[in-house]
Amino acid sequence: MERRVVVVDFGGQYAHLIARRVRELGFYAEVVPYDALKPEDVSGAGAIVLSGGPSSVLEEGAPRLDPSLLERALREGKPVLGICYGHQLLALELGGRVERGERGEYGSATLEVLADDPLFSGTPRVQRVWMSHKDRVASPPPGSVVLARTEACEVAAFKLAGARVYGVQFHPEVGHTEHGARILENFLRGIAGLEPSWRPEDAVKGIVERVRAAYKGGNILVAASGGVDSTTAAYIVKMAVGPDPIHLVVIDTGLLREGEAERAVSTLRSLGFKHVHLVDASREFLSALRGVVDPEEKRRVIARVYFEVLERKARELSAAYGEFRYLVQGTIYPDRIESGRAGRGSDRIKSHHNVTLPERLGLELIEPLADFYKDEVRRVAKALGLPEELVYQHPFPGPGLAVRVVGEVTEEKLRIVRRATSIVEEELRKAGLYRSLWQAFPVLLPVKTTGVKGDARSYEYAIALRAVVSEDAMTAEFAKLPWELLERIASRIVNEVEGVNRVLYDVTNKPPATIEYE
Ligand code: XMP
Repeated sequence: MERRVVVVDFGGQYAHLIARRVRELGFYAEVVPYDALKPEDVSGAGAIVLSGGPSSVLEEGAPRLDPSLLERALREGKPVLGICYGHQLLALELGGRVERGERGEYGSATLEVLADDPLFSGTPRVQRVWMSHKDRVASPPPGSVVLARTEACEVAAFKLAGARVYGVQFHPEVGHTEHGARILENFLRGIAGLEPSWRPEDAVKGIVERVRAAYKGGNILVAASGGVDSTTAAYIVKMAVGPDPIHLVVIDTGLLREGEAERAVSTLRSLGFKHVHLVDASREFLSALRGVVDPEEKRRVIARVYFEVLERKARELSAAYGEFRYLVQGTIYPDRIESGRAGRGSDRIKSHHNVTLPERLGLELIEPLADFYKDEVRRVAKALGLPEELVYQHPFPGPGLAVRVVGEVTEEKLRIVRRATSIVEEELRKAGLYRSLWQAFPVLLPVKTTGVKGDARSYEYAIALRAVVSEDAMTAEFAKLPWELLERIASRIVNEVEGVNRVLYDVTNKPPATIEYE
């Protein structure tokens, strides 16, 4: 895409947060790993942002940019903004000096703007910014101007004189930086001269055309969950090629919520899909999961059985309808990040079921949403007229309730967590808080505790309640739900769900905890 903003990824999750912010401001951004950046990426960019990263530029083997690429950017007059690690790298490459800080600077800091520059236009001279660094730029590159400082950081922002090249030590992409969005916008619009015209909805037309052009006939298999991602992906494919070749397979893994599989089937039918097939494979999943305790092993087992069931169904369907050539998946950007598929620097955290779905079926993958963030998928889904209930539904992990039963999964435990899930969702909707949360769900702990029910001693399971606020699941804060609501949920669970006598509320953020328990 012409005039795109290229966010160069130096590891961690900074680059994706920056790209999201840039897109929110209406400029199309793509993340490119630092060691995959090509000369044409530089030449084709409307602006280049060098992201933060967990490394130290002073370390041997720290990620560096091929110097010829930076030269090219300068020669071609590209606007460049280095953030945090990118700021230090830029300073170093341009002849400045970076040194190891003694204490570092973490959290909120007061930034003092020292010069009148378009980067800070419309923002006050003194403002709150978010800092997270140990090293610091000790002297800026020759021919540059220091634009701002904090108490711990003399060169909190600099500009290369006569060029559109900037470095900022703080993180304009995080919400804690008061005027971060304005600073990014100043850079992209005021300095780089880009026009904010990108909307995810508008990208759909191009995607539909690409799918249509790539489609060479044959049947299309969709592993549908009824969630917003896979449904929107399938819907886009339907827009491209019509409903006839599309077969959606909804697999009831036995790990779904109450009535979920049937609901998925009826929603999909109501959206005009002709071939929706429900496969009940719950027994198969349950027996494969017997004795499995390790979370990653659970994911592997589920992915394997899922694939076997899907493959079997695909063979059956091709006997009836003709050959399958494509597989549609609702993979989105964060799925790729968390599974370590995008951005070289990110560690593999959890192997996500929808990504590991093997390609052995010999099918070509269609992933229409692979470059979208969740909030963008929702915007697209809404623009396409998909039902609100679907659009604003909380994400539900591929391995389902299996990762919400800590330890071995049994039918009994699934029954408990399933019933409790319905109660939690119902109460949140009633309280009008469902949509304000990223996710909220109960988790069955492998712990029994003593309680008293009626007059008798009980010895039953404890449930942890997890409710988080997040923008993209990469980071999350526990939700500060009202006590009365928590009390109502807890009391309903212990009264209505047999086998539970205690409910705990989880007050940890991500990081360091993840959202799911496994
Ligand atoms: P964590 O638990 O890593 O989750 O903080 C981040 C987001 O991803 C979802 N999640 C999964 N989704 N397959 C999925 O499709 C999985 O194996 C999986 N594990 C976690 C989780 O619900 C949250 O939204």
